[in-house]
Amino acid sequence: MANLTIRKLDDVLKSELRQRAAANGRSMEDEVRVILRDACHKRLGFAEPASAGLSVPAPPAADEPVDGPRAQPQAGTVRVTLIVGGGIAAYKAMDLIRRLKERGADVRVVLTKAAQQFVTPLTASALSHQRCYTDLFDPSSEFDAGHIRLARDCDLIVVAPATADLMAKIAGGHADDLATAILLATNRQILLAPAMNPLMWNNAATRRNVAQLKQDGVAMVGPNAGEMAERGEAGVGRMAEPTEIAVAAEALWRPQPPKPLLGKRVLITAGPTHEPIDPVRYIANRSSGKQGYAIAAAAAAAGAEVALISGPVELRAPAGVDCIRVESAREMLAAVQSALPADVAIFAAAVADWRVAAEGMQKLKKGAGGPPPLQLTENPDILATISKLTEGRPPLVIGFAAETENLIDNATAKLARKGCDWIVANDVSPATGVMGGDRNTVHLLMRHDAATDLESWPLMTKDEVATALVARIAQAMAVHA
Ligand SMILES: Cc1cc2nc3c(=O)[nH]c(=O)nc-3n(C[C@H](O)[C@H](O)[C@H](O)COP(=O)(O)O)c2cc1C
Repeated sequence: MANLTIRKLDDVLKSELRQRAAANGRSMEDEVRVILRDACHKRLGFAEPASAGLSVPAPPAADEPVDGPRAQPQAGTVRVTLIVGGGIAAYKAMDLIRRLKERGADVRVVLTKAAQQFVTPLTASALSHQRCYTDLFDPSSEFDAGHIRLARDCDLIVVAPATADLMAKIAGGHADDLATAILLATNRQILLAPAMNPLMWNNAATRRNVAQLKQDGVAMVGPNAGEMAERGEAGVGRMAEPTEIAVAAEALWRPQPPKPLLGKRVLITAGPTHEPIDPVRYIANRSSGKQGYAIAAAAAAAGAEVALISGPVELRAPAGVDCIRVESAREMLAAVQSALPADVAIFAAAVADWRVAAEGMQKLKKGAGGPPPLQLTENPDILATISKLTEGRPPLVIGFAAETENLIDNATAKLARKGCDWIVANDVSPATGVMGGDRNTVHLLMRHDAATDLESWPLMTKDEVATALVARIAQAMAVHA
């Protein structure tokens, strides 16, 4: 099929096309698609396609009702109306245009009056390759109720930065400028990226507006904690980074994957434990926590409410996961017990078997008597304790067996000894690189009454192992539902 390059059209045609596209609030490419579609349907008598397949639906009539459920994004190019409020973070919204475009979005920018104090319509239109909108009473776009078109001829409306003032206006249902008229007239999902001084964010009026907006179904990303533009001020109020906002926006326009663990509570332990010798020294192991964190992320993605009880690791808690950080085995057991009840408990942490019997309250000193004797005592067995609960035992308890020899035999013995339902066995001998690495070869042992099923999975990344394990759990829960 031949390609049509707008750049190569003659100047008169190009100028007419530009004006028509601007008047309709479309890119020139989209305007050409509409013209071709109309030509095919009206003159050549082509049949109306089952699904238009074109990214530009005809503009809705100005009197089309706006109530009813929020419309879902359509197939094809995603169209985003980006409303920029009058905050210092408006300059970052210019980068957001690029981040959204990178993800395949067609971006139309609306600047509030205050936003134009920070960025210009020229910058926004140069980056979006579209006309930038600023005025509610603009004859060139309002001849066909342009604000209604901007409100509905899109799949998502993003407001970044969402200033305190703009949020108050949206929560109050104002419509006295182009931005607020669009936000009131839309039936599309709205995503706000609030940005303001921490005192403004914590102000009782803003708290009320945030609560109202969430109740109205408005999605939010951020604000983050950090330094403010104001010298010496820090706290919660920084706008989320453009990439973060673009990721949140994409999550809203992409069809959501199924959530097989929706309504289930999953408890996961991860990482090593640190067992104190004295206030400055401890016994540890080489667990990185990567596998447990990956399972927490996969369970959260599957819709579960996730409590992740983590030993000391360098990892960031996955989004949407409640992460409780602990140091020792005894703290981990206490945190697990407080996190119950759960539908599934997965014990991926490498809990130290022993701790020092008499932990020094002061730093042990080097003395003439040689090294101090370290008497060890057994730590609580978290997996066995939870597996053997007579009341409140999670219906599915999964342990991990990290072995360096006789993997399957040791894991089978552990399954019986601990009383759990499944064991994920992995070979952690140094040559495998599993400890601290990104890949894992696991064997899943599943107890059914007297029998044990064994599944050996191929070498996978820890993320893949996590996704496969969560899928297996969802399957088992569906069978027993
Ligand atoms: C330099 C400067 C920076 C500002 N930054 C913010 C900000 O980050 N967040 C905010 O809510 N208001 C900020 N304001 C106040 C808004 O500009 C003001 O409330 C304005 O009315 C918001 O307009 P809007 O509703 O179009 O966003 C700032 C004002 C100035 C002068």
